[in-house]
Amino acid sequence: MSNRYAVVLAAGQGTRMKSKLHKVLHPVCGKPMVQHVLDTLAAMNVHDVVVVVGHDAETVKSTLGEGITYALQEKQLGTAHAVQQAQPFLKDKHGTTLILYGDVPLLTPETLTALIDHHHAQGAAATVMTAHLADPTGYGRIVRDEAGEVLRIVEHKDASETERKIQEINTGIYCFDNEKMWGVLAQVGNDNVQGEYYLTDCIELLRQAGEKVTAFILAEPAEASGVNDRVQLAEVEAYMRRRICERHMRNGVTIVDPAHTYIDSDVTIGADTIIHPGTYLRGRTQIGADCVIGPQADLTDVVIADKVSLSYAVIKGSQVETEAVVGPYAQVRPGSRIGSKVKVGNFVELKNADVGAGSKIPHLSYVGDAEIGESVNIGCGTITVNYDGAVKHKTIVEDHAFIGCNSNLIAPIRVGKHAYVAAGSTVNQDVPADALAIARERQVNKLGYANKLPRKQGKQQEN
Ligand code: UD1
Ligand code: MG
Repeated sequence: MSNRYAVVLAAGQGTRMKSKLHKVLHPVCGKPMVQHVLDTLAAMNVHDVVVVVGHDAETVKSTLGEGITYALQEKQLGTAHAVQQAQPFLKDKHGTTLILYGDVPLLTPETLTALIDHHHAQGAAATVMTAHLADPTGYGRIVRDEAGEVLRIVEHKDASETERKIQEINTGIYCFDNEKMWGVLAQVGNDNVQGEYYLTDCIELLRQAGEKVTAFILAEPAEASGVNDRVQLAEVEAYMRRRICERHMRNGVTIVDPAHTYIDSDVTIGADTIIHPGTYLRGRTQIGADCVIGPQADLTDVVIADKVSLSYAVIKGSQVETEAVVGPYAQVRPGSRIGSKVKVGNFVELKNADVGAGSKIPHLSYVGDAEIGESVNIGCGTITVNYDGAVKHKTIVEDHAFIGCNSNLIAPIRVGKHAYVAAGSTVNQDVPADALAIARERQVNKLGYANKLPRKQGKQQEN
């Protein structure tokens, strides 16, 4: 396999996005669109990647991080000029160079590998990826000679009436023999309607130099869709979302309604898990096998083991272990661990809480900055009072403890093993193991009092 290089063009402004954020940083299925391009290249073992940045270069660089070579195109003088900025990094290398756009995120490693294979099989100096479109308006057109060989590419704005009828378009994706590419790039001028240095001119220049130029026709043109505005952003996202769902379904995941399931590209899901509609699986979320997720689950960077069941839940930065049940209507905030067979029920909020195996927090509780042991029962309406206005304090409830309904546990506090807290208590001192803490007013029954009340004597007051 010859060496592979890539130049990713990402200098253009993207005016039509009407955004403060650089176009290539707009997320598609949870990742900046240009990151998809870089991930695709990484999956193909293309390691010499140069990203050409221009507008808002610093933000693009800081978002994508190190480990990538950046070339700065100070003024956007055209696609050929953009590629030329990468020359210092790739100039004398022997091999094949892919040209990609940072705003064309749907191409797969399989498609790009097929492009390179075709290029090598044809012994070409350049291969342009083309597509047949019913409406080719705006794109560069592929002009072929009588023998059907690619002759040149003409931009829409420069094309004659006849040329505009050509339906085979330039997707803007190419692969070149690296050394030959730099050779012809130096000859590209800007004598055209837009006064730009067109990369497309390389095709004709190579032909004139007697080199072989071929086209690789994309079977599914949508894969080369670019994003110029937010309508296209939504279209590209919908396409990628469907593709992600299909991948999981083929791997044995049931997705009840893929049109209403939103899975980021790096999420993993085990077989026989069922995903119900209205579910968002974001970031680095990992889901085990045999789970039932949703309806309406919104999970970000969550690690879920097998046989977990959750619905109507928002969970972030947490871990859920086997056979746990979460929701309906629960919120789990970052830093939490929900142990095996735990039940977190309706209207429960956890934050930075570690809940041991078999414990139950079935209803209406806030458990924050807490360590809950195993087989603990947290009664309905229990609140960990973790914040004194300045500092967050920790609540520890040890194994098998029982917290009665509507209790306040004022942290820092520890409830020992097998201890009880009576319902309605507000406890602010540690409860020893096996003890019962009651911290509430004693009940007083005033016998016969009801009969003294005016309404009981039929003297109900008028309003
Ligand atoms: C280009 C092709 C056209 C093709 C189309 C496919 C040329 C001359 N034309 O046209 O044949 O059909 O793509 O979408 O190449 N960029 C820079 N610096 C620049 C100019 C562009 O980085 O100076 C980047 C843009 O940010 C963008 C990409 O290159 O990601 C393509 O540029 P764009 O202006 O959209 O090219 P088109 O005119 O659409
Ligand atoms: Mg474009």
